[in-house]
Amino acid sequence: MIDIHTHILPACDDGSPDMETSLKKIRKMAEAGIDGIVLTPHFMRNQYHNTFNVITSKFKELKSQLKKENIPVNIYQAAEVYLDGNIIKDIESEKLVIADTNYVLVETNLTGLPSNLFDILYELVKSGYRPILAHPERYANIINDPSSAEDLVHRDIYMQLNAGSLIGHYGRSVKKAAWYLLEKGLTHFLASDDHCKSENYSLPAAMEEIRKQIDDYTVKLLTEVNPEKMLNNEKIDFFYLESTEDAPKGLLNRIFR
Ligand SMILES: [Fe+2]
Repeated sequence: MIDIHTHILPACDDGSPDMETSLKKIRKMAEAGIDGIVLTPHFMRNQYHNTFNVITSKFKELKSQLKKENIPVNIYQAAEVYLDGNIIKDIESEKLVIADTNYVLVETNLTGLPSNLFDILYELVKSGYRPILAHPERYANIINDPSSAEDLVHRDIYMQLNAGSLIGHYGRSVKKAAWYLLEKGLTHFLASDDHCKSENYSLPAAMEEIRKQIDDYTVKLLTEVNPEKMLNNEKIDFFYLESTEDAPKGLLNRIFR
């Protein structure tokens, strides 16, 4: 299992404050069956200016600690990039993609999606990047109208749900939006977005809930199949569910390709 969104790289954003905290969390993740972790410190121009050199030196340090302590987890270098007009320049100069692939984890303003969001995303896609929108279920616009997320997927944007959203960590309205996106097949990845704020690790509980309410395959798709394709820089299907007329009301007939 691969967790594609974490703030566990020590001392570079509002996530893990130090190496000890990072190692403690990674040990816990390994026990939970995680064998790959994508490290995605924030890249925000005016707040967290994590350049390639900064991220790379901390990444190397963490990697050597994991080796020293025999913790059996692979780590991958990346960032969570705050979308703004200069984004392509920053992604190129600071190599902010996920582990040398064309995939890039992006976020934007939680209280209101910017009016030029589609333009920025279009430029990214046109330049050959494969944007993954972090936690769509947390954006006010999508909470108010979860069906609007489909428009983003039609524009070749992948969606990454936060595990905590499905189990109520961000409140009822986020939880409702998250389950909507999952049930409608508008979700490509499930990740923790762990900031090392507590010892709790949200992924196993959310996976268990998906297993109960949907099925095992969805868990595998979102935490193994798609993350592996992403790391191999293979294209992932944007749509993997189809509704059929004779399906029971409110349910989608699941067709995995
Ligand atoms: Fe994040």
